[in-house]
Amino acid sequence: MIDIKQLQTILDLLITNDMREVVNNPKDNRGENRTAEEKDLLDSFSPNQFKSKIKLIEHINNLNILNKDSQIVIFGGWYGSILIPAFYNEVKQIHLIDRDEKVISRAKHELFKDTNVNFISADVFKDFRDFYKDCDLFINTSCEHMQPMKQWGPAPRYSRPWWTRVKKGSHFAFQSNDMYDIEGHINCVSSIEEFKNQLPDNAKVLLEDKIRDDRGTRYLLIGKYE
Ligand SMILES: C[S@@+](CC[C@H](N)C(=O)[O-])C[C@H]1O[C@@H](n2cnc3c(N)ncnc32)[C@H](O)[C@@H]1O
Repeated sequence: MIDIKQLQTILDLLITNDMREVVNNPKDNRGENRTAEEKDLLDSFSPNQFKSKIKLIEHINNLNILNKDSQIVIFGGWYGSILIPAFYNEVKQIHLIDRDEKVISRAKHELFKDTNVNFISADVFKDFRDFYKDCDLFINTSCEHMQPMKQWGPAPRYSRPWWTRVKKGSHFAFQSNDMYDIEGHINCVSSIEEFKNQLPDNAKVLLEDKIRDDRGTRYLLIGKYE
């Protein structure tokens, strides 16, 4: 098993603040050869990402939600940079869905090429997939990027959410934030109460948390469908 804190230590030693600065400032001559994709990938391993994801991982572990037969699906999972190493050897199967084909391609063919993670390039609101019925944990740390999770279901009306089709007793772990001015953030929230209003009707909250970082506050809700 990969110790995620050890991974954080290694990356913090390898990727200095100076290196991050170079990648984040492409106009600066030193960074001009860096592509947006490289910056995006590096961002997924940033100190802020470790801080918020480690909180989520610790809470999931403390709640004893998972075992070796569990299946996890990660919505808007980006590269899976931190969550895949954290959970891969703890569960039977991880599914990760992201609508960005380039992100999925890098994760599937480079970062995690030696794993059996089920990578899918699609909009999570597009299709109901049969494996959802077997999932024990639905993770979405990209809630600020999409419609509220209570509307998870067929577009354009979202009037019949798919939550009623998943296993009763399955869990969710959702994160959103109040970072309104970041590109792509179409559904930020300003408080945990506001975030709770985005939960599906049959959701029971087991745990809530707030994580401060350089750019604002991330809100975390973990719970169960009843
Ligand atoms: C910037 S990333 C991750 C940000 C998040 N706060 C985190 O820390 O994990 C957001 C990801 O959500 C994906 N995404 C946004 N809307 C989506 C949707 N409807 N279906 C699937 N993926 C989506 C994007 O392609 C992107 O890779």
